[in-house]
This record gives sequence, C-alpha cells and structure tokens, in this order.
Amino acid sequence: MRRNGDPEMILTRDGFDGDAVVSDGNKFITGNGKFGYRGTLDEMTREHCVGLNIAGLYDGVEGKWRETVNAFNPFYLQVYADGKPLCAWSDNVIGHRHSLDISCGVFSRETRFSVCGGTLELKAQRFCSMADVNVLASRLTVSSDVDVAVEIVAGIDDDVWELNGPHFSSVAKGCREDMLYAVGSAQESGTSVRVNCKFSSVPNRFDGRFAHFYVTVAAGKTYVLDRIAQVLVGDEQPTPTEDYDALYARNADMWSKMWDRSDVELEGDGIDRAQFALRYSIYQLLILTPRGDCSIAARGLSGQTYKGAVFWDTEMFLLPFFMNTDIAAAKRLVEYRIRTLDGALAKAKSYGYKGAFYAWESQDGYDACSDFNVTDVFTHRPVRTYFKDKQIHISADVALGIIRYFDKTQDNELLLRGGLETLLQISLFYYSYSYYNHNKDRFELLDVMGPDEYHERVNNNAYTNYMAYHCTVRALELCRALRREFPSEVAAVLRRFEPDICDSLDEWASKLYLPACGDNGVMEQFDGYFALEDVTAEEVRKRLVNPREYWGGTTGVATATRVIKQADVVMLAVTLPQYFTVGQIAANYRFYLGYTEHGSSLSASAYALAACMTGRAEDAWKWFLHTAEIDLNGGGKQWAGDVYIGGTHPAASGGAWMVAAQGFEQICRPKFLHRVVSHHE
Ligand code: BGC
Repeated sequence: MRRNGDPEMILTRDGFDGDAVVSDGNKFITGNGKFGYRGTLDEMTREHCVGLNIAGLYDGVEGKWRETVNAFNPFYLQVYADGKPLCAWSDNVIGHRHSLDISCGVFSRETRFSVCGGTLELKAQRFCSMADVNVLASRLTVSSDVDVAVEIVAGIDDDVWELNGPHFSSVAKGCREDMLYAVGSAQESGTSVRVNCKFSSVPNRFDGRFAHFYVTVAAGKTYVLDRIAQVLVGDEQPTPTEDYDALYARNADMWSKMWDRSDVELEGDGIDRAQFALRYSIYQLLILTPRGDCSIAARGLSGQTYKGAVFWDTEMFLLPFFMNTDIAAAKRLVEYRIRTLDGALAKAKSYGYKGAFYAWESQDGYDACSDFNVTDVFTHRPVRTYFKDKQIHISADVALGIIRYFDKTQDNELLLRGGLETLLQISLFYYSYSYYNHNKDRFELLDVMGPDEYHERVNNNAYTNYMAYHCTVRALELCRALRREFPSEVAAVLRRFEPDICDSLDEWASKLYLPACGDNGVMEQFDGYFALEDVTAEEVRKRLVNPREYWGGTTGVATATRVIKQADVVMLAVTLPQYFTVGQIAANYRFYLGYTEHGSSLSASAYALAACMTGRAEDAWKWFLHTAEIDLNGGGKQWAGDVYIGGTHPAASGGAWMVAAQGFEQICRPKFLHRVVSHHE
C-alpha cells in the first residue's frame, strides 16, 4: 500500500480557478466521520461556501428545511503584506496550487506572491484528525526572499455558510492568551457547539473577533503558525491536545491502518487513472466512517444539501464497503436503523399503516423529506413530490442491510436486541400496505414509487415487490432459526405482534405478486410501463426548455415516457440476482440502458455491476469510471429545479468500490444464478 506523500496519492489543482471554488470545496474535502471540512482556502468565507459540517447534528429554522449544522470555521486566516491582503485571486499572485493527499487526508495550499520587489510564499496544511475526532490541525508557513512586514489575521469565523439557517441565534466569542473560542447554541434543540482554536504563539491583539499577529518575515527565513482546533458538540469537554507534529503523526498512522484494511489494487496496463479514481472513492468513504450513533448522509459531510439526511444510499451502496473493511462501522450503520425504529413505526401509523415505514430522508428517524422537493423553474412554485409518501422500498432496503450484516457476522445478539423486531415490523408494514386482488388471488403493492423517481404513484414496481418479498421470507427464516436457539427471547419479541404474525406473513409472501420477465427476458418496471411513450433519454433531453427543468412530477418531460431517472429493474437484478438468469440480467441491461437518464449518481454503478455479471467488460469499465470519477469531475446534478443539490456523492464512491471489489471478478467467471420462479403472474 502506498503511503503518506506518495505522489500517486495526491490530487492537485495547479493555478487558481475562481469558477471551480464550489466544486473544489467538494473535491478537496477532508474529514474524519465526525465532521467534514470543505476544500476551500484559508482566506475564504461564506461566499466561497466554506463549511465545517457536523455529522448528525440537525437544526431547523421556522419555515425552512431542517438540516445539519455547519460549525464556525476555526481556520479563517488572512495574511497582509505591505498592508495589502494576499488572496489566491489577488493580482500579485505568481503561482498557486492546492492539493489533497488521500493517503492521510491532508489538504495543502501553496501560493507565491510578488511582494516588495521579492517573492513571498504562503503555505498552509490542514487535516481533520482521524485519531482524535474532535480535533483539526493546521500549519501556516510564510517565507520570503526579501524582508516583509506581515500582519496575519486569524480566528474563528462565525459568519457561517448555511443553506437554511441561521442555525445559531447568538455566538459568544473570546480570546484567552493563545486560544480563541466561539460558542453558540443550535436554535431548535439548544445543543451547544463550541469551537476552540489554539495558536502556537500568543497574538499581538484580539479585536473581539479575530487575533492579529504582526511579524517581520526576514529574507530567507520562515515564519510558522500552528492552529489546533477542537469542535465540541453538546456535553463534549475539551481535552489537552498535542502539538501539530504529534497530531500529524498519529493522524497519518491511523490513516495507514485504515488503508491497510480497505485498499483495492487494480492490475493491468493503463489503469493509473482508474486506480486513482478508485482510491479517491475509497478516500471519500473513509472520511465518512460513522462515529458515535450517527449514520452517513447522502452528500456525506460536504454540506447541508439533502439536509444532511440518511437515505437508502447507506444500506445499498455504503454498507457493503464497511461490511468488508470495518465491521464495527458497519454495525453502527445497522444499529442506527434499529435505534430509529420508533420513527419508522410512527411514520407508518401517521399514514394509517402497521409496522415500520422508514424515513425517506432520515434525521435520527424523523423524516425530513419535504412534500415539495423541487421548485418549478418556470413558475418558481414548489412541486408536490411523493418521495416521502410513496418510496416504500426504503423499508426493505433497511431490512436488507440488517440481513446482509447478519449473514456476514451471524450476530444473533444484534437480532435479539432489536434486529429481529425491526425486520418483522418492516414485513408487517408491507403486509398492511398491500392490497388483496380478489380477481387474481394475489397481494399487490399499489400507488408506490420505485427507485426511478420520475414515475410517481405507480402500481407493482418490480424492485419494491421483490425486495418486500425477499426481506419477508428472510425475516421469517431468521425468526425460525433464532427461535430454535433462543426460544424465550424470540417469544418475547413475537409478543409485540399479533399471535399469528409469522403465519400471516408467510401466507402474504406466498401470494405477493412478483412480475416475471417476459419471453424477451425483460421485466416490466411497473404495471403499464411498456405502454408509455417509447423514446430515449437523449431524445427527451432535447425537449427541455430549461436545463434545470425537473424531469419528473406530474408535468415533467419524462413522466409520460419510458425514460427513467436511474437504474430500477437493473438495480433489482444486481441486488437480488438470484431471481434472474444471466440472460435475463443481460436483457434488462440492454432494454433499460437507452431509457435511463442516469440523473442520479446511484445509477452508473448498478449498470456497471450488471455489465460485470453479464460479461460486458467494456461497458463495465465505462460505468465504473463514471461512478468512480464523479467527484473528481465535479459531476452529478447541481440543481433539482431551483433547489441546489451539489456536494459529494458517497453512494457513487461506494458503488465504485462494489464494482471493483465485487463486480470485476465476475466478468471472467459469471456466477451461476439460480432463478426462483416468479409466481402470481
Ligand atoms: C436519488 C435517490 C437518492 C438520493 C440521494 C436522488 O436523486 O433519486 O435514489 O437516494 O438522490 O442520493
């Protein structure tokens, strides 16, 4: 495994590009699971989207979306030389470069300025410590080939970038010798957020907000200023911290252990680009390693997009990585869902159903998904979307996460401590949601939305029906097996349900409608899908009047067509391949490809996996690069209607890992898949 400082592990931008500030904020992000620090420069402020996003701390402001909180920025710093501010975009810049060392999560910048007839070089480095998760550290060095009088203004910037703030009503700031602090309370919960920043030397002056250092940088000499910050949430107390070098060494050591567990090496000619993209994806996953009782948000720790909420992305795209590289982290992800079962029970109840209907956008179990997720770009009116109400597949996705974790660990205790109850509550939800069709003597799941969000309120979405079926059958199997070993514990779990729950679920599953593949091998995405307008995604794209237009909803360009946002039947085929033959996976891949917009970053890896399973090496490679490079390319949609949705794409990173670690080997040796005959066609 490559180590610290290895050029092959470094991502660099040469020169400053003002248009890339927001996407570089995502691309050069550092983090440690507890928080993420966007890849911005020291002299930047909220207008450049500087963000120190805290995992799992949510706040809501009246009339706005509830979202995660961005803490105060401990590392704001502006150097003045000869009275003038030195910024990467100043007109006296001779050269600029910033970089991210993915072997150890260190962000660096170097900028050279023409100052007083000579050259002044400003370098800064920072990292979020993987070893002490409340700690961030930064080192600034200033050197020059002429004597220069320099003023450094440094401190905690409490003018925070927020999408739906302000989240702090008041902030107390102060300075104690060599340390600044800023403390505020989140508006809704009152949870306190404290940021301390300790300097390696005592400032000359504190102006109530920032510290000022006045120094003369002598020709040929280097001035160094270290800053060690702690971010403390709620009751967390400050702890003594080590100096920069010691923190750096322990951080690097922790990273090297993490890489030892998670690196994937590709073999072959001309794979450098792909290898870097894969490692970069793994880096993006490692900086999200869940801490405490948090899970992982859909945009990771890159900001407040998608409200910092947890989606099905976690179970379907992230859990496989953690399950194979860091089982304790995987367990935390699974436990998060078990812990938030009450929220799912309450959501089901609020719609009049039994069992557990998980939050589409979970903020500790509370569903943060709005009724109006996008804004019409023409009328600027909110569009009613049904993600929260109808994407019922979320509960089965959660169940599959628990089942997969159990299959890997045989952790009976997790099942007995809530896992089994969660699985049964999820099955009960589908049971109560379903409709019994007398004419056909089968159960159906009507008025739902599959992974493809462009077709709302459809009947019998194949992905949903199969997932609900599979998870119910597995839940019952696990229940029976567990009952043999732990009869009284399982009896206690079952007492929370109707006495005949297992029999009812058994019968329900045996009568749930599972659409079969047709003679051509293709499975219909939902009832009536084949009757929709037969037009490709590319054709539909040409119909757009505004590039930010929303494709779905009642009037979207895709709604009345076969064009889908993302892998849906193909997602089913790669998730539960046991219900398909290889030929059927290939048929569905071919059929749906042209109709898929890939408007979600979740789509490419599903197509890559399907390509692997069906021996399509070239396609697999293309889709793999697409998913692995999304954050390197600043790809993915930035807007849904008028709503900003930019940020990093952890599910794409997790997907890249799945393709590399689990997909590629199948190209040469397609696994023999066993088809379970569909019933109630
Ligand atoms: C996708 C969802 C996904 C969400 C968060 C949406 O655009 O359609 O499937 O869960 O983004 O990544």
